[in-house]
Amino acid sequence: MSGTKILKYFTPYIWPFILMVIFIFFQSSATLTLPNYMAKIINEGIISKNTEVIFRSGLIMIFVAIVGSLAAVFVGYLSSRIGTGFARNLREAVFTKVENFSLVEFDKFLTSSLITRITNDIQQIQMVLIMLFRIALMAPLMGVLATFKAYQLVSSMTWIMAVAVIVLISIIIVLFKIVTPKFDRLQKLIDKLNLVTREILTGLRVIRAFNKEEYEEKKFNEVNEDLTRLNLFINRLMMLLQPAMMLIMNFMMITIVWFGAHQIELGNLQVGNMLAFLQYSIQAVSAFLMISIIFIAIPRASVSIGRIVEILETDVQIKDPINPVRVPRRGGKVEFKNVTFTYPGAAEPVLYNISFVAFPGQTTAFVGSTGSGKSTIINLIPRFYDATEGQVLVDEVDVRDMKQSDLRSRIGYVSQKAMLFSGTIKENIAYGNPNATQEEIFRAAATAQALEFIKELEQKFDSSVSQAGSNFSGGQKQRLAIARALAKNPELYLFDDSFSALDFKTDAALRNALKKETQGKTVIIVTQRISTVIDADKIIVIDAGRIVGEGTHKELLRTCSIYKEIAASQLSPEELARDLK
Ligand SMILES: Nc1ncnc2c1ncn2[C@@H]1O[C@H](COP(=O)(O)OP(=O)(O)OP(=O)(O)O)[C@@H](O)[C@H]1O
Ligand SMILES: [Mg+2]
Repeated sequence: MSGTKILKYFTPYIWPFILMVIFIFFQSSATLTLPNYMAKIINEGIISKNTEVIFRSGLIMIFVAIVGSLAAVFVGYLSSRIGTGFARNLREAVFTKVENFSLVEFDKFLTSSLITRITNDIQQIQMVLIMLFRIALMAPLMGVLATFKAYQLVSSMTWIMAVAVIVLISIIIVLFKIVTPKFDRLQKLIDKLNLVTREILTGLRVIRAFNKEEYEEKKFNEVNEDLTRLNLFINRLMMLLQPAMMLIMNFMMITIVWFGAHQIELGNLQVGNMLAFLQYSIQAVSAFLMISIIFIAIPRASVSIGRIVEILETDVQIKDPINPVRVPRRGGKVEFKNVTFTYPGAAEPVLYNISFVAFPGQTTAFVGSTGSGKSTIINLIPRFYDATEGQVLVDEVDVRDMKQSDLRSRIGYVSQKAMLFSGTIKENIAYGNPNATQEEIFRAAATAQALEFIKELEQKFDSSVSQAGSNFSGGQKQRLAIARALAKNPELYLFDDSFSALDFKTDAALRNALKKETQGKTVIIVTQRISTVIDADKIIVIDAGRIVGEGTHKELLRTCSIYKEIAASQLSPEELARDLK
């Protein structure tokens, strides 16, 4: 069963668990002893007018009741502790696992579903677990022992209990059959609700600009209604359970009293015994009731467990090698050897047979129309994805033979969409190098041309950055992201269209400053702008996933028609004529 996979997160709680079982034993024994004393008080005390027996048995009953209640308190305490602690460990394990997911796995699981699993699903498991501890352990014991005690007292009436239990269990089996299939759908609907909510909240600006509030609200309402309807359905059915139970219980009691009264009249039964029998039969039937409720709760939890185990068992595609190769930093040379790449699940490759070398001390630039595969090439270098065929080498070692942390520590990566984290500017720049000195941070900001706007801010480097950097402009975010890569002081710089939001003047100033900072290191730039690559040592032209030209700006103008087309669309005729000379 899939549940066993998560059992190991339970091991730290073995001792509290054993302690809890002991307390459960106390609690059940106390509950089971009370009716016996009650019978004694009635039979020997009240009827025979023996106050001594009443007093003594009464005292014992009080004592037993106190012990039982105390035990119940401890059981409650321990079960909550075990349940919540287990949930915490599980959440941590799932989160750590998700954190280590490569982009391949993120493509497979939706973020919204991952969030539901880490929050709601684990909550479900925790809830059922706590319930399970308190009921599942106690109920079978109580059920069997109470039946036995009742049988001991008045064997001729046990059939009444049997009938009640059979009717009860039949009702529950029917409910069970109807409700269980719904749980899987319930969790999926919660996933969907999360998805829609996230999308609407993050896309609020676009929604407003396009006047799509009503449309989105409708989308949200649909999911919300679906979820409500299903929840209502499940809850209504569950609510039916209680009156049905009460009815059965009451019928049972009436029948017992009815038959019991006859027996008492005939002199076959003592009043106290009948009352004790009544108590035991209520205990027994309640116990069976509890057991059946567990059978309803378990499928719900098992759906959630299945969803958690799915994450825990997902084989992360991008793994560290068993014997990682350790190489000194050699300037971050990058080499692609016949790399072909297909996105997981896609029919066609997006990169075909890509081979190139980016040397240290040089700037290698990729140019190409949108969707041609430039970002995909960049993504293969820090192993966000692995090449489907061929090899990617950094510092002359296949990236798959290096430890991922070692590989990535050599790389300063600036993504196409600048991403900042909430905190201060300083924290964001020092993100990849927490030991960076004030001076290093300042220098990184200066090189990235970020100083000019940081200086304007009231709190300078201590100014706060809100979630995802939403209080900065696109170009400011890009410059901070560049400063963050610089402060890490890597060997290899990957700029994925990282200058696109900068004006031409800033772009030029930045590239000038970068040249000094990146001496002896490998710089790879992706861009759509010819002016950005004009003085690159090597330009590689990508078209539909293939290299269609390689050389300097001037060479390519002569040899590569696609490059010439791109250049012609961006440069003035005079500039073109000058460069063609
Ligand atoms: N995660 C993904 N799963 C499947 N296909 C993808 C994924 N990411 C990108 N693609 C596809 O790969 C192709 C190349 O995308 P890529 O992002 O590398 O282009 P690009 O050259 O960087 O474009 P741009 O200049 O617009 O950034 C596109 O056709 C795109 O549809
Ligand atoms: Mg791109």
